[in-house]
Order: sequence, then C-alpha cells, then structure tokens
Amino acid sequence: MTVLAINSSTLWYLTRGTGVVSLLLLTASVALGVVGAVGWNRPGWPRFLTTGLHRNLSLLVLAFLAVHIGTAVADSYAPITLAQAVIPFTSSYRPIWLGLGALAFDMLLAILITSLARGWLGFRAWRTIHWLAYASWPVAVVHGLGTGTDTGFTWMIALTGACVVALGPHTAGLMSNNDALAAAIEGRGTAAGGRQSPVYCVENSCN
Ligand code: HEM
Repeated sequence: MTVLAINSSTLWYLTRGTGVVSLLLLTASVALGVVGAVGWNRPGWPRFLTTGLHRNLSLLVLAFLAVHIGTAVADSYAPITLAQAVIPFTSSYRPIWLGLGALAFDMLLAILITSLARGWLGFRAWRTIHWLAYASWPVAVVHGLGTGTDTGFTWMIALTGACVVALGPHTAGLMSNNDALAAAIEGRGTAAGGRQSPVYCVENSCN
C-alpha cells in the first residue's frame, strides 16, 4: 500500500514537472518559429541554426509531453484514460482544462505529422497547418493555469508570465476564475512589456 502511495505521488510530481518543462520548451520553440518566419538574422548566426533548434526543441516538447500524458494516465488518483487524454473534452475529470490540454496536444501532433509529410503535402498546406502552433500555445497555457497544482505559486506565476512575454508583441488571452491570480500574471507580463486581454468567466463556468 505504501509503495502504491509513493508511486502515485512520484507520478504526480512527474506530471507537474514535465508539464512545466513542456510549456517552457513549447514557448521557446514557437518563439524560434516566429524568428524564422520573420526572417530575423544576425551576423554570425546561421539561419539553419534557428531552424534546427526550432525542430529539435519541438521534438523535445513531444517527448516531454509523452511523459506528461503517460504519467497523468498512469496516476490512479485521477481517472484519465489514454483515449480521454487525447480526445478533447471527453474526460470526466476536469473536462474543460484537460480538454484544452488534449486540444493543444492534438494540434502539435497534426504539426508533427504534416511536417513529416511535408514533401507530399506541399509547402502551402504544410504552412497553413503549421499556424496551429500559434493556437496550441495559448491553449496549453490556459490548460496549465486551469489544472496545475502549482498555478498559485510565485515561481509558476513568474514562469507563466515569462512565457507570455517571450512571444514579444503578440497578444495573449488570459482566462481565469481567480481574479487575484489573473491580475498577478497580467501584472508580471505587463511589467515586462507584454499585453494580455483578460477573458472573464461567468460564475463557475471555468471550473
Ligand atoms: C501541449 C500540451 C500540454 C502542455 C504544454 C501541458 C502543460 C501543463 C502544465 C504547464 C501544467 C501545470 C503543471 C503544474 O502546475 O505544476 C499541466 C498540468 C496537467 N496536465 Fe498538462 N499539458 C499539456 C497537455 C496535457 C494532456 C493532453 C493531458 C492529458 C492527460 C495533460 C494532463 C495534465 C494534468 C492531469 C495536469 C495536472 C497536474 C497537477 O496535478 O498539477 N496535459 N500541464
């Protein structure tokens, strides 16, 4: 029994840790994608380095997400099946927040598959689907804020705020049912020069 309890808490820590790392890596990967898309360059910084880093970071995100999802499913505390983890809004456990996580993950999977089939798909179709990366990022941020145990901790607020400003002049939506927490994240983002548009929830609709 004790062994089971230790395992469950280890899985829980792994879910949380890999969730945070996935979000940081995803932010870096999307930021590098933006850098590549706008053609930003510096003398002595070859473009293939940006592209290669972007590709490798994206693969790393998927590796961490595999552990994040695997540990969440394996943890008997939360009744989540593998199907519910990847089919959005089918989980009975925190359906909205987990549904958003599944949605973000599916978008990243679509990007991976179309990138592998890029030669066959053609550049236009590939690029259109690649725009999903911009949609998956805020969806993943909201998922983490909504379901994460660490959401209220200063270090997590700081990390999430840093992710929000890392994407530069792009505007992010901030959805929360906790006004104080939303104000803290918005404040950190604004202090660093970012912009967020608060999306308010009607009573209990964000639980
Ligand atoms: C792009 C996809 C995803 C990203 C970037 C992501 C990231 C995160 C982050 C940052 C957290 C907060 C961790 C914390 O507070 O310490 C979190 C929590 C969580 N995620 Fe995800 N996630 C994604 C997809 C998924 C999927 C598909 C599932 C389905 C099983 C999932 C299950 C969970 C669970 C159960 C928690 C709560 C862990 C806790 O108790 O704190 N995530 N995720």
